[in-house]
Amino acid sequence: MSSITAAITAVGAYVPEYRLTNAILETIVDTNDEWITTRTGIKERRILKDPDKGTSYMAIKAAEDLLRKRKLDPAEIDLVLVGTATPDMPVAATAVYVASEIGAVNAFAFDLQAACSNFLYGMSTAASFVASGKYKKVLLIGADKMSSIIDYTDRTTCIIFGDGAGAVLFEPNAEGYGLQDEYLRSDGKGREFLKIEAGGSLMPASVETVENKLHYVRQDGKSVFKFAVSNMAEVSALVMERNGLTHEDVDWLVPHQANRRIIDATANRMDLEASKVMMNIEKYGNTTSATLPLLLHDYEKQLKKGDNLIFAAFGGGFTWGAIYLTWAYDTN
Ligand code: UT7
Repeated sequence: MSSITAAITAVGAYVPEYRLTNAILETIVDTNDEWITTRTGIKERRILKDPDKGTSYMAIKAAEDLLRKRKLDPAEIDLVLVGTATPDMPVAATAVYVASEIGAVNAFAFDLQAACSNFLYGMSTAASFVASGKYKKVLLIGADKMSSIIDYTDRTTCIIFGDGAGAVLFEPNAEGYGLQDEYLRSDGKGREFLKIEAGGSLMPASVETVENKLHYVRQDGKSVFKFAVSNMAEVSALVMERNGLTHEDVDWLVPHQANRRIIDATANRMDLEASKVMMNIEKYGNTTSATLPLLLHDYEKQLKKGDNLIFAAFGGGFTWGAIYLTWAYDTN
């Protein structure tokens, strides 16, 4: 086993200014604030309104925020990873464009696609590159313009998703902080329950697919909910147990923000009090690849060196898992 641990050493984020509130959604589809709040915990989402801007715009902003805070020369970055379910284009990876735009001239870059588990899987990937000893600075970005794949006449999806981006830097850590353990899972049976049917190689885009709105994301919410609740809770508890962590040892749960009820179920299974559960779903909704780094950004000032964090996610595919990471720095 490698003796190099890979730690998060900086965080950056970006969300668009426009707020799509529950009150506005009430004027678009047959829904209401009370239903959305009690069923999901969401009050508003951010939407990237500019029609000529894609996911890369937000990814670049998040990366630039990180570079500024960390006073990092982008030429030092070895690898840029972008987790996204909404790349700028199907071919020509968004990460490659982002790396060039931020001045990461010495980096190579590629995208990751595992739906709402993008950032979690990305953490594993970034940490592995660092732990290999070959790469010293890996920039991991989670970014999604979910509004580009939402049918705003479908009340079962349009109330859930929002746009945003977050970024972290992984670097080797000499004190042993950083990623300690991971348990990542997937099950292809899940793709029937959450998907965009057309636009891929199985069903290329055509006039017919567009007329039938098959280029939008659809989900069987109830089924996804059932799988998400049991699986996210199970892997989080497993990672705690096999690392000998009790609820007292865990300082923070960093859960994917898909539904407040899924987060509560995971925290209950871990026997964690609410004050240890990071939550910002009310402000951003489900931003898919950006939920975990947006949480780190919002809670960064409360994190202390040595804190034990459990990250957990569940998403389309199905994909899910949990990661145990120790925090490597105090903010100021
Ligand atoms: O991050 C990727 C993974 N995705 C997830 O984790 C999402 C998991 N699923 C969920 O979060 C939930 O299933 C939803 C929030 C999508 C839906 O909540 P639910 O409690 O499962 O509702 P439901 O689909 O069972 O629908 C209950 C009722 C239905 O009406 P009837 O048949 O009982 O009369 C729906 O038609 O609520 C109705 N409904 C709505 N009513 C008002 C569905 N959407 C809405 C809406 N506003 N937006």
